[in-house]
Amino acid sequence: MGLIKTLRSVASFSIPTLSRHKRRFKRAANIADLRLIAKSRLPHGIFDYIDGAAEDEITMRRNSAAFQQYEFVPRVLRNVAGIDTTTSFLGRTLESPLLFSPTGFTRIAHSQGELSVARVAAHHGLPYCLSTLSTRSIEEVAAVSTGPKWFQVYVWRDRGLVKDMLTRAQASGYEAIMITVDTAVLGRRERDVRRGFTLPPKLGPGTIIDGITHPAWTWDFIRNEPITFSNITDPNASSAGTAVNLSYFISQQFDPGLSWDDLEWFRANWNGPIILKGVQSVADAVLAQKHGIDAIALSNHGGRQLDSAPVPLDLLAPVAAATGGTLPLICDGGIRRGSDIVKAIALGASLCTMGRSYLYGLGAAGEPGIERALSMLTDDMTRTMSLCGVRNISEITPELLSLVPAGRI
Ligand code: GLV
Repeated sequence: MGLIKTLRSVASFSIPTLSRHKRRFKRAANIADLRLIAKSRLPHGIFDYIDGAAEDEITMRRNSAAFQQYEFVPRVLRNVAGIDTTTSFLGRTLESPLLFSPTGFTRIAHSQGELSVARVAAHHGLPYCLSTLSTRSIEEVAAVSTGPKWFQVYVWRDRGLVKDMLTRAQASGYEAIMITVDTAVLGRRERDVRRGFTLPPKLGPGTIIDGITHPAWTWDFIRNEPITFSNITDPNASSAGTAVNLSYFISQQFDPGLSWDDLEWFRANWNGPIILKGVQSVADAVLAQKHGIDAIALSNHGGRQLDSAPVPLDLLAPVAAATGGTLPLICDGGIRRGSDIVKAIALGASLCTMGRSYLYGLGAAGEPGIERALSMLTDDMTRTMSLCGVRNISEITPELLSLVPAGRI
């Protein structure tokens, strides 16, 4: 009798989920778990395009590792009964200090691609920055999102094409542009070189086998419309629908002559905030401020451009000091934990970005995967704030951090 009672009190049976991916997704505890699920669900070429970085991938690894240089100086007995993560950025109130970064070709991870990202961002009151190289158009994304939308600009040689996209973005209610300034040429992503990876992915013997061994992705891919550069409506401007080698494509289409003088042109053609994405030195941050730029993203493109580039987290404090704390800073790169967000804010960031983190979620499980990645980061952040004794974003100050003593892991 006693035995049955004890068993009854501890037994918990639920109907097992049949799909291995669904089971793993249900139990995923952090972004690293989502990455592993995406790795098993996506064809190798696709996963490597998302997961990989330039050359020896030193920068990508350092972006994340940099957060471990710091430990917290937690305060206790601070009444953390109500944690408030809201913040304000360029005059907008946001639910938390997070931005969904622009990522090119998002539909390669899942057919819903940019639409899913835009929906999740809007649902949580967070900005989504759509990429120039997106696989859903400026207008398609605007149609599913009432949230804050930004547009990321790659500067094409053909300024008429850029002007056309800016006009469309403005007409569709996008509030700010982010000009990417770290892509004069494409970084050498050696995983893609080895695989002969093209965008959109093209079919060949290798990719067919890759597809057959990843049936869930392949089924989603073949039953939906083809992946194209959705923003490029001029058929003469590029091979909008055909598979391209990204490095060759960018060398043909993007303007390597882009310079500070071109910012005037953007002022004349865009009515709203201008953010530079890819600033990697104190000197350029100061120049950006002198040019009247509204905010900058300290970014090395997730380690996908220059290898051995400076780490955004390390740039925050010196850039904040040199710009007098008045230029809003976005910390872009390596954020995988809510505690990383708290550390970046303590060092001077106004916003942190999600890039690969949401792509892992999207690749692992579609839109619910993005929801999950976001809640992992925001739950982590709220918990870290509670455990550190800070109640709101403005209480996250440099005193909350200390450098880990040298020699300690
Ligand atoms: C595109 O922006 C990429 O980093 O591949």
